[in-house]
Amino acid sequence: MAYTIDLSGRVALVTGASSGLGWRFAQVLAQAGAAVVLSGRRIERLKELRARIEGQGGDAHVVELDVTDTASIKAAVAHAETEMGPIDILVNNAGIAVQRKLLDATVDEFDDMFTTNVRGAFVVAQEVARRMVARSLGVTPGTWTGGRIINIASVAGLRVMPKLGVYAMSKAAVIHMTRAMAAEWGQYGINVNAICPGYIDTEMNHHYWQTESGQRLLQMLPRKRLGRPEDLDALLVLFASDNSALVNGAVLTADDGFGL
Ligand code: NAI
Repeated sequence: MAYTIDLSGRVALVTGASSGLGWRFAQVLAQAGAAVVLSGRRIERLKELRARIEGQGGDAHVVELDVTDTASIKAAVAHAETEMGPIDILVNNAGIAVQRKLLDATVDEFDDMFTTNVRGAFVVAQEVARRMVARSLGVTPGTWTGGRIINIASVAGLRVMPKLGVYAMSKAAVIHMTRAMAAEWGQYGINVNAICPGYIDTEMNHHYWQTESGQRLLQMLPRKRLGRPEDLDALLVLFASDNSALVNGAVLTADDGFGL
């Protein structure tokens, strides 16, 4: 018999689902049986994704969410729970990267990356976790199956990469945030883990791989290849499921060996 992971009956919220990894994550969670809340700023693209998931027999709902806006986060989480039920799985995926040497980075760029990648991920997780904790404390023992928060960090959070200093700093914060959340929220049955992808070809960097410097970097990668969003499918579903019950505060790289 094949080994399968079933997320039926679970509700998953994915931030930044309108492109790249988030677009893929939402589909994978839906394929595993979860009802998925597609959140982001580009509503038309989210509707396109919803149609695609529904076409594959999945269940999806679109909600507008700007992670830099706390009121938007609170409204989106409340709306998501009203429409789909309590959130069991959060994929904190929304993020931005600006390529700049440290001496050239502007304060605005610094603020943008930290506000989106760190503060945004923190406030979304906090809003979702507050509700998970309330469920955990309110139910009779054994009925709360546990929450899962998956923070999408980066190998850049573990190893400084060329012209990505500030981005790397923000992702290092996401990694430590993961550990802090795991330490505080584990007692409520919430597991918080981080995935640190290496270079994956997505909207965020697609143009770069066509440039001369992108091609040079590609040749420096251990296996001279980029990852694909689907390369993260199994890790994501594992972290989202009961099968990883004992895994809390883990920081897992998926970088083809680049960070070694
Ligand atoms: P992407 O640019 O395709 O996706 C990022 C998503 O976040 C976009 O849909 C964007 O609209 C959304 N977003 C940005 N600011 C937002 C905001 N204020 N509110 C709501 N949504 C917002 O890029 P990709 O590659 O899919 O990135 C996803 C995550 O993976 C990011 O956190 C990124 O830092 C991380 N990552 C990506 C790697 C790569 O090589 N592609 C490597 C390591 C980490």
